Amino acid sequence: MILTAEQYDAYIRDGFLVFPELFDQAEVNILRNEADRLRQIDAEGIFREGNDGMAKTMFRMHEPDGPTYSPAYRALSRTPRSLGIAQQLLQDENLYMHHCKLNMKPAIDGTVWHWHQDFGSWQRDGIRKPEMVTVMVMLDEATEIGGCLYMLPGSHLKGRFDPYFEDSTVYKFYATPSMMVKEQMKYLSDPVAITGKPGTVAIFDCNTLHASGHNLSAKDRWQIYLCYNRCTNHPIDIDDPRPDYVRSTNWEPMTFLNNDSIVTKDLS
Ligand code: SIN
Ligand code: MN
Repeated sequence: MILTAEQYDAYIRDGFLVFPELFDQAEVNILRNEADRLRQIDAEGIFREGNDGMAKTMFRMHEPDGPTYSPAYRALSRTPRSLGIAQQLLQDENLYMHHCKLNMKPAIDGTVWHWHQDFGSWQRDGIRKPEMVTVMVMLDEATEIGGCLYMLPGSHLKGRFDPYFEDSTVYKFYATPSMMVKEQMKYLSDPVAITGKPGTVAIFDCNTLHASGHNLSAKDRWQIYLCYNRCTNHPIDIDDPRPDYVRSTNWEPMTFLNNDSIVTKDLS
């Protein structure tokens, strides 16, 4: 899949791109069934919230040597529609995956992700250049009432905002102070709600400010995040690195699998 010049320019200008239903229902069903299987297990890299103890976030479904492995997620991470677009946006054929995660925001109970730039965390992982892209795939319909993602267009061009450690949510991370977000909102276009049918994809820059609200709907909101980095931009050694499921040390260039490999399960 080759990006048009208009798509490339829009990404550079806005810091994100949306592709409605880039993955079809058969692919989404397979990924959903696999997520359902994996969230029953107990493993490092699975975070739970609420009384039912169901997983809210899980990591590392794409690597064969771990408990959360799923061949369908490996295929997803290597299709021309995911890896191929990331290669074009980063203008580099040699990419690896910093991490792969699935956020399952439960109906009614699922809570917010505060405004943040992903590079706030990734810089602390030892990555030097804020030149990374995330491919987000919707596994169900994303709606505003359901706590969809919001992007602040053009915010990736405003540099780095010094983050604070947000520990009020189940998955703790570096968020952007409200004062800084409000200041940017004075000058930038309104935040865009990233809504869409299952299989819709949003691709965004690691400095694009994004957030999501409470899920007030009766339906869960499941979204996959595939975070690609250049092999040459892999993290440097740091003290107390985060675990491999969130800060991968597999810096081998990823190779393509066929576009139909999620369905065929042919990973050769
Ligand atoms: C994230 O930005 O890491 C997650 C946001 C979300 O799933 O709503
Ligand atoms: Mn994020």
